[in-house]
Amino acid sequence: MNAPLRIAVAGLGTVGAGTLQLLQRQAEPLAVRAGRPLTVVAASARDRGRDRGVDLSTVRWYDDAAALAADPEIDVVVELIGGAEGIGRQVVETALARKKHVVTANKALMAEYGTALAGKAEAAGVALAFEAAVAGGIPIIKTLREGLAGNRLSRVYGILNGTTNYILTTMRETGRDFAEVLAEAQKLGYAEADPSFDIDGVDASHKLAILASVAFGRPVDLAGVYCEGIRHVSRLDIEFAEELGYRIKLLGIARLTDHGLEQRVHPCMVRRATPIAAVEGVFNGIVAEGDFVGQLMLEGRGAGAGPTASAVVADLVDIATGRLVSPFGVPVSLLGRIPGAPMESHQGAYYIRLMVMDQPGVIADVAAALRDQQVSLESMIQRGRSESEAVPVVLTTHATVEAAMQKAMAAIGKLKSVLEPPRIIRIEDF
Ligand SMILES: NC(=O)c1ccc[n+]([C@@H]2O[C@H](COP(=O)([O-])OP(=O)(O)OC[C@H]3O[C@@H](n4cnc5c(N)ncnc54)[C@H](OP(=O)(O)O)[C@@H]3O)[C@@H](O)[C@H]2O)c1
Repeated sequence: MNAPLRIAVAGLGTVGAGTLQLLQRQAEPLAVRAGRPLTVVAASARDRGRDRGVDLSTVRWYDDAAALAADPEIDVVVELIGGAEGIGRQVVETALARKKHVVTANKALMAEYGTALAGKAEAAGVALAFEAAVAGGIPIIKTLREGLAGNRLSRVYGILNGTTNYILTTMRETGRDFAEVLAEAQKLGYAEADPSFDIDGVDASHKLAILASVAFGRPVDLAGVYCEGIRHVSRLDIEFAEELGYRIKLLGIARLTDHGLEQRVHPCMVRRATPIAAVEGVFNGIVAEGDFVGQLMLEGRGAGAGPTASAVVADLVDIATGRLVSPFGVPVSLLGRIPGAPMESHQGAYYIRLMVMDQPGVIADVAAALRDQQVSLESMIQRGRSESEAVPVVLTTHATVEAAMQKAMAAIGKLKSVLEPPRIIRIEDF
């Protein structure tokens, strides 16, 4: 058997401890698959005394994770601390500067600095592997980069955040409001104490920016991702979606259009019969569309110790066997310059929900505002009658341009009889 791959792990939290457990439990089959043992020789975390359920007795301990990354007796650094800035980034930069392979689950870092880091890895002749950074246990990076290398991809989209999918699924199943379901998700540990990263779409945006780069061979462009979260999705919207034959999902979508590459994260209405609509609870699902393969979907657990460790270890096996590929599929100098498409040029159908006073002429005013922007209506539902309180009116449109929609919504929002800001949800035609 060849010499062991000497691994240093920085960060022993959910993913770090999970990775050590997996490496210990599967040591034998992994050594066979990799052609050499995968041996953890060094580790770092903040609190050395904490019981992490793993045996660290044979491992060199570092209080300073950057010093661990500079250890001359290691081959690969696994960065599982997190954060686009600070110690996580320092660990990765130090390792690459010392020509050590890097495996990371850090989506924030890869979304912000992925292209530059890939350039450094390439110059050093080492791997920068980040399967675990997108959709946890789903091997989507390898699938897009290697499995679908024979295709030109036209669209990649998916449910990239389990917390928001759990909230939307539970709202639909129980008929409860967003705030109530979020509080429950926090109690169950599915949502963080500060949930904004998930529910405002930031986490999904990071993952989409990485996916788009791999799928379309262009530099990572986080600033080019249009991002909207699920705070405004109400119980009413979910009920109306059901009535119209849709499910509401927070999707990340990267799509080639005549205006360039769209990258957007926002709540979407998707037909109930589509495979992506059936991805429920904490699960993630990703669909890729290629010219030769057609449509392909992967579904699985997007987070948690086991699934994420599974992705980290797959990257380690690649490194151990010498299967090194460019992080984004092609050398950084060959990453293309497909322009980003501005959100205003997006074209699609829309769901609109208004809360209006039930008075004569309201619908005519709304219809006039839409007509002025050449937005044509497909359907309308008016629910309930009340002279004293707002009633919901729901409209769906034919395909129209985002800029026109936004102008129409601004005009409708100013109408006296419209009592709350209009809510729109984009309808995706898959
Ligand atoms: N959790 C998931 O399901 C999941 C899924 C996909 C990707 N990820 C990504 O994986 C990474 C790790 O996530 P996680 O959930 O495992 O985080 P976590 O449970 O909070 O663990 C973070 C670890 O980093 C250590 N740490 C923090 N500051 C440090 C420092 N200055 N020096 C050394 N160690 C330090 C902590 O030490 P102590 O334990 O001593 O406090 C802890 O062990 C993040 O980039 C995250 O986005 C997570």
